[in-house]
Parts: sequence; C-alpha cells; structure tokens
Amino acid sequence: QLDDGSFEAQGADTQWIADSRKELRLNRCIGLPTETVYGLAANALDEDAVRSIYAAKSRPSDNPLIVHVSSMRMLRALYHLPASGTTRPFLGTANAAPEDAGAGLAEPEGMDARLREAEDRDRAQGGDGVWPEIPRVYHEAIRRFWPGPLTIVLPRPPCIPMIVLGGHGDTVAFRFPAHPVARAAISACGLPLAAPSANASGRPSPTTAAHVLHDLRGRLPLIVDAGTCDVGVESTVLDAFSPNSRAGGQLSPCILRPGGVTLEQLALLEGAAWRRLRVYRRDFVSAELELNPTTPGMKYRHYAPSAPVHVLVPQAARPDAEMAQLVQQQIGVLAGERGARRIGVVAVAAAGRPFDAPPGCALCVHRVADARELAHCIFALLRSLDETEHVDAILVQGVGEANEGMAVMNRLTKAASFHVLC
Ligand code: TXA
Ligand code: MG
Repeated sequence: QLDDGSFEAQGADTQWIADSRKELRLNRCIGLPTETVYGLAANALDEDAVRSIYAAKSRPSDNPLIVHVSSMRMLRALYHLPASGTTRPFLGTANAAPEDAGAGLAEPEGMDARLREAEDRDRAQGGDGVWPEIPRVYHEAIRRFWPGPLTIVLPRPPCIPMIVLGGHGDTVAFRFPAHPVARAAISACGLPLAAPSANASGRPSPTTAAHVLHDLRGRLPLIVDAGTCDVGVESTVLDAFSPNSRAGGQLSPCILRPGGVTLEQLALLEGAAWRRLRVYRRDFVSAELELNPTTPGMKYRHYAPSAPVHVLVPQAARPDAEMAQLVQQQIGVLAGERGARRIGVVAVAAAGRPFDAPPGCALCVHRVADARELAHCIFALLRSLDETEHVDAILVQGVGEANEGMAVMNRLTKAASFHVLC
C-alpha cells in the first residue's frame, strides 16, 4: 500500500498472495478487500470452509452468501463440474496437498472442450454461442458492469453446496469483483470464494482492514490490508432469474439490494427488460421473499452501530416528540449543512432543532459533495461515532434517493431498524 492510500500490485509472487492462497486452499477464511467493502472469503466449493465463514461472523446460517469469481471462464466452468461433496475440482485431484501453494492448479481434464461443446450446442439451437451457461438477460449487464460492484442471481451450479444458499432455494448470487487484490487472490487459489461482508453480523460493513480487525480479532488467520474501499457500500444485488423476476409472465429484473451500481445505470442498459426494472420494497413486495431469508437482509437488523440510529427523511417536519427523548444525551449528528455534511457530537439542550448545534460544538466536519462520496464514507462515519466518540444515539439526516442515495438510505434505514422519522 502506498502512502496516499492507493494500492500498487507488485507482481504475482508477493508474500500476501502466497499466504492467502495457502489459507484459502486449507479451507480457512480470510479478510479480503474488494472495491465495495471488505469480505470474509473462503472456498465456496467446500462445506466446512463455508461453515467457518458463518461461525467467524456469527451470521445466521440461513442468510445466503455471494460467490466471487475472477473470470467469466471460472464462472462458466462451475456449471460443468460434478456435484458438490465429490471432489474439490479446481484443486486437481481430490488429494492434492492444499499447502502445496506453488503448484499450478489444474481444472478437471477437458474443461476447454466442455466449454466449446456448450457453445456449439447453443449455436446449433440458434443462439450466438456466448456464455451459454448464463441467462441471456444478464449478458449486457455483465459486459457493462463486470468486473465491478454488481451481483447477479443465477441458477445454482451443482458444485456449489447448499450451505452457500443458506440451505434453501436453488439460486446462487455471483459477483466478479474489480479490486485487483480480490481478483489476484481468487485466481491465485483457483477457487470461487464465498464472501459476505467481513463485519460481525449486524454491524456496519467494514471499509478498512482495521474495521475487520475490530470486529473479528482472533477469528481469522489473515486479513489482507489494501487500504480503504473505493465504493464504500456493498454491491447491487440484481435478480433477473428467480420466479420473483417474472411478474405477470414478463421478465422484470429486480434490484434486491441497492448498491454500488445504481438504478439509473441499470435502467440505461439495452433491451426491453431493463425498462421494467423494479426495486424490491419500493416497487413490489413478495410474500416468498418476506418469508424466505434469501431476501437481502430483511429479516435481521443490519449495518447497525451499538448506539441507536434515528434517520430523518429530508422533507421531515421537526420531530420534536422524538427529539425530546434525546435531551441531555450525547448524540452524534450526521447532517447536511449548506450542501456539506456535518458530523459532530452535540448535547441536545432542548427538544427539536437537533441540527442547529451551535458553531464550534462539532468535533469534526466532514464534507461530501454528493451521494457517491457519502456512500464511500457512511459506514466508517457510523463506526467512528460509535466506537471512537461513544455517543448515546446517532441522528442522521436522510438524503434523496437518486443515484447512490438509494443505497445510502437503504443502509441507514436498516441501521435504524426502520426507525425513520418523517
Ligand atoms: O459488495 C458485496 O456484495 C460484499 C463484498 C464482500 O463482495 N458482499 C456482501 O455480502 O455484501 P453479504 O453476505 O453481506 O450480502 C449478500 C447479500 C445478502 O443481502 C443476501 O441476502 C443476498 O446477497 N443474496 C445472497 N444470495 C442470494 C440469492 N441466491 N438470492 C438473492 N439474494 C441473495
Ligand atoms: Mg453484509
């Protein structure tokens, strides 16, 4: 990592690559940076490895994980591997010594031929032979946004064990991250990696290695530190495959979790289906999704610091009654101030007007120009009010839902357990 916080890849043979490859091939989980947030990554093909992820972050084991790949070829190849529990296919033979980190990893014999056969079959059936394993509707989104902060819901390849899905359903969420460190780690170990955000379950997601250490100290053999994540909120989870995306018999892709790729960007994709793009909870609610935790975190309080969070929507009337309860407490305030965002610790002297803290009482003023910049720092701000300032409560002024504002408001309302004042 360079002084200015940027990261410089130093060739294929640096120590961190060898160390992460070794841990991942031993089926242990490690802290790994991505461009969105830090992930807690382990071999997605091995049940025990995936179990160790749930254990490390105390995550309810019915909340499914995203599987990360480092190439389209790796994703496609998963659909041509035997069912889980039989082999660890990317490791060559089942008995390959995992600590033999120097050896090149062999796929099963003949993978190239199998991929070509699938392409030929697709062409024979009138297709274009491109990525025949991946539903067509996603192709344009993949070309535009991968590698990057977009996760897509796909049919489950037989080699992915059910534990990755939280034990139910028959879809798997996949992502091809853009971060050079994540990509290098995945391709060096030659395995698809299941990785949730590397926070303790329910806490704000980690955007630095220090956040991961704070939450998971002593539970991981390795955290790869590549500085602060660029995007700052998690990937957008997009479903154009499960029954939920077939409203009225027509394909209507849905955003299950807003994130690093915005609604506005997806809506610009070519193809009629993208004109019918919907946002879960805003445009539809599904009984199945409500009951089934394959929902993006609906069932659990999420992203939350230990201090209670209150969110004011931008057009809120003054919530005097709510504020009365906060009188005389130390509260952290995240609020807009003439286009800036002001973070301070203030004692509210009287009910109401919480954002009119007298000048000088703010401990720090953090200016952001737009929703993208706010997304970049929102989790770190929540953590620092909580962990450094030890406030009794956090009051956040909401932002508009345009562009990255949608992902920010999604995280804030969940942090507030839907305690939104309006
Ligand atoms: O940016 C990210 O996506 C980060 C980095 C590490 O890649 N990962 C992340 O993972 O945020 P996690 O586990 O914290 O969130 C995964 C989300 C959850 O909301 C989960 O419900 C949803 O993806 N999900 C996983 N599998 C799914 C599936 N098959 N269908 C629908 N949603 C799924
Ligand atoms: Mg998470």
